[in-house]
Amino acid sequence: MTDIVAETARLRLRGWRARDRAEFVRRLNTPAVMRWLGGVQDEAFYVTAFDRIDGYQREFGHTLWIVERIADEALLGFCGLKRVNSPGAGALTREFEVGWRLREDAWGQGFAKEAAIASLDLAFDRFGAEHVVALTVAGNTDSQGLMHRLGMQRREDLDYTDPRFGPELNPTIIYRIDAAEWPAARAAAVA
Ligand SMILES: CC(C)(COP(=O)(O)OP(=O)(O)OC[C@H]1O[C@@H](n2cnc3c(N)ncnc32)[C@H](O)[C@@H]1OP(=O)(O)O)[C@@H](O)C(=O)NCCC(=O)NCCS
Repeated sequence: MTDIVAETARLRLRGWRARDRAEFVRRLNTPAVMRWLGGVQDEAFYVTAFDRIDGYQREFGHTLWIVERIADEALLGFCGLKRVNSPGAGALTREFEVGWRLREDAWGQGFAKEAAIASLDLAFDRFGAEHVVALTVAGNTDSQGLMHRLGMQRREDLDYTDPRFGPELNPTIIYRIDAAEWPAARAAAVA
């Protein structure tokens, strides 16, 4: 069975293969990529993180998939769909959540937007989401820029404190888009 989930003009979203883990850490465990994610992390962090990613796929049939550039099959990072599971998330728990993380040399080229559009298409068309949220922190203006560009709405009423983190990484701030909003938002995002 193929592990390819979606293809866009330049990218492939696909399932994780065993060798992806080391390549992901090598390319993405950098101070810039991890700036708003708790900083560079150790091996134990990634063992847990990769187990969670595998678990989302098993439990929900979707996960934060590998983003691969079709032209050279380079691993650029991940993008995809999980469910909200952070401590403190309250009523948001188990809502569809879109997430992204790309290596630095792939930033600023529209790859994240391209992968995120494919992920939102999957959320609404294949997985039947009624709405999808995206989570970040106030300082992460790049991630918020992407949320805004995708037509997601800032929802201050859904913000929450994540007890795992200190003041720099709190509160978790929320953007959301509903299924009915996606066709027009998508058209604007690709324009
Ligand atoms: C967040 C991240 C994926 C964005 O990647 P990127 O390469 O900047 O994204 P793209 O090039 O696809 O840009 C997407 C859109 O967001 C907008 N955008 C990006 N950064 C922005 C910023 N700082 N301010 C305003 N808009 C911004 C751009 O307008 C762009 O749209 P356009 O190409 O139509 O103009 C990338 O910075 C990253 O991997 N960061 C580290 C990991 C991380 O923090 N993940 C998110 C955790 S919440």
